[in-house]
Amino acid sequence: EITMLRAIEVLDSRARPTLSVTVELAGGAVARAGVPSGASTGSGEAVELRDGDPERYRGQGVRTAVGHVNGEIADAVRSRRFADQAAFDQALIELDGTPSKSRLGANAVVGASMAVARAAAARQGVPLWRSLSPDGVPARLPVPHFNVLNGGAHAANPLDFQEFMIAPLGAPDLAEAVRAGAEVYAALRRRLTDGGHSAGLGDEGGFAPELTRPEDALALLLDAIGDAGYTPGRDGVAIALDPAASEFRQPDGTYLVAGEKLTSTDMIARYRQITEDFPVWSIEDGLGEDDRDGWIRLTEELGEGVQLVGDDNFVTNPAVIAQAIEDGIANASLIKLNQIGTVTETLQAMAVCRQAGYGAMVSHRSGETEDSFIADLAVGSGCGQLKSGAPARGERVAKYNRLLEIAAHRPRLPFGLTP
Ligand code: PGA
Ligand code: ZN
Repeated sequence: EITMLRAIEVLDSRARPTLSVTVELAGGAVARAGVPSGASTGSGEAVELRDGDPERYRGQGVRTAVGHVNGEIADAVRSRRFADQAAFDQALIELDGTPSKSRLGANAVVGASMAVARAAAARQGVPLWRSLSPDGVPARLPVPHFNVLNGGAHAANPLDFQEFMIAPLGAPDLAEAVRAGAEVYAALRRRLTDGGHSAGLGDEGGFAPELTRPEDALALLLDAIGDAGYTPGRDGVAIALDPAASEFRQPDGTYLVAGEKLTSTDMIARYRQITEDFPVWSIEDGLGEDDRDGWIRLTEELGEGVQLVGDDNFVTNPAVIAQAIEDGIANASLIKLNQIGTVTETLQAMAVCRQAGYGAMVSHRSGETEDSFIADLAVGSGCGQLKSGAPARGERVAKYNRLLEIAAHRPRLPFGLTP
């Protein structure tokens, strides 16, 4: 039974307002959740509500969404007993009444959903990851994917590809994977400063040097992996990319990369070359969200050996992912709670992936809070992969530190990609 539900306006990691939602259950369990926010959003995402008042935060305030939590949502759920998370989330969905959660605001809805999930775990006296773990699905510590070079919408540099991640796939355990991430990050900083580049950071804590060609960024990264004493590749430290190609797709359907106009066919050839020259094991949003034919060809041509992750095109929507699976698009999905708006629908999206043999990678947003919910989600779902930015900046590190805490308490939890 919910005795109290309350939101306030707080700041995210980009100095923009977001919601902090607190819930109290009968018996005294209290929990809080912080709501993330993206910059390179898919057009099908659940819609976050911003005040639009130019006098406050240049229109980005969330007092309306806060008011919806404290008013309509609290009034609808207070003193009510919900059988489970699914029943609570269904009540939120019905109260909102829109397919995109735009009336109450996906930021209001997801904050309430996350806070209730955490409070329910506390009431049962189990860790959040355990209560998020579906029946029959073994929990697992994920391989952290550290985004160490930032471009695209996350930095002001000319690098068109948004994210260059290091993935210690070959690490023997989580602690060693975190260590590899931090050591390669430090080696990369040395490479950059020695080469006369800035070591300034982008939104996700990765460096944002004045590089243009993705291959130049990859070469630096490969050197840094070696400098730190690791073997590049799946047995050691691999690389994952999120070009976020919707952001540099042009109105005529071509892709503008480092000043060059490329067709979908050119892009696929470029990715093939990249995967031959560098230990890139995973590519997310390699093509634009509307480039359906391109995605099908990309999957046919590279899908055997490379993980191809849908993000902007899938938006953590179970129905969209199910259709994409039928269409032969990608072989994995990114998973972001606020793209769909409730914990239950997020778990459904992951179940769709699991049943089809698709991969799933749990993800932060570029605008984050200190909330570490996604670390528990990655562990409980057993999906084997989490991306939460660089091994630097508190809001990124909070998730990795939560993984370390879970690992320390449960030394027998398996680590790594799903077998
Ligand atoms: P976003 O970026 O949070 O700015 O959308 C993350 C991603 O594209 O994966
Ligand atoms: Zn992405």
